[in-house]
Amino acid sequence: MAGMDSGFAVYAPHPVERHAPVAVVVAEATGDDVPVLAVLQARARGGSAGEWADRIHRARRGERSLVVAAKVSGEAVGYANVAFLPEHPVDRAPAGYYLTGVTVDPAWRRRGIARLLTRRRMDWVWERDSAIRCFVSVRNPASLDLHRELGFGHERTGASFQGIEFAGGEGRLLRADPPRS
Ligand SMILES: CC(C)(COP(=O)(O)OP(=O)(O)OC[C@H]1O[C@@H](n2cnc3c(N)ncnc32)[C@H](O)[C@@H]1OP(=O)(O)O)[C@@H](O)C(=O)NCCC(=O)NCCS
Repeated sequence: MAGMDSGFAVYAPHPVERHAPVAVVVAEATGDDVPVLAVLQARARGGSAGEWADRIHRARRGERSLVVAAKVSGEAVGYANVAFLPEHPVDRAPAGYYLTGVTVDPAWRRRGIARLLTRRRMDWVWERDSAIRCFVSVRNPASLDLHRELGFGHERTGASFQGIEFAGGEGRLLRADPPRS
């Protein structure tokens, strides 16, 4: 799989301007959503829309996986995935559910859409398992803040997790446990 290093949002922990809230609907992605989500992923992360469409279709069919889309006025503007992955034979990232691929259209960022996509996937995992993991490049502080704020803590640092390499740097394996009732 390709390295993970480009297309990150410019880090702005205290933006001087804030967008007004928008009505966002987050739901499991349908087959009809896939072409738009594939274009979104190709633009944000590189690769062809065709390759992304194949990948997203496969993820939708996976037994222990969920693909979610965020829509504004019926238009898909955000994508995210969660899937169960076995322990990785090389980098030893543990078996369990992993959040991957969260992407929001640049025109719709900083309105809480990634937060909604992530909460939705966390709830889905906690109906099935306890720990949820994700891995984030150390060069992506926007994503590190997003996940930290949602309760993810640092588990370990490495050059690769689940076979994904962090080109030119390191990544962090993060884990969130269910809230205590
Ligand atoms: C990272 C990304 C998914 C965030 O999407 P978003 O919808 O703009 O994020 P949200 O509005 O839900 O932000 C929630 C919190 O995350 C953090 N955050 C998000 N974007 C940020 C930025 N550019 N700078 C600093 N903090 C940021 C903030 O803590 C934010 O809370 P706040 O707005 O109250 O300060 C988006 O920038 C993106 O698609 N980036 C490219 C793909 C990517 O890097 N994905 C993550 C891979 S692990």
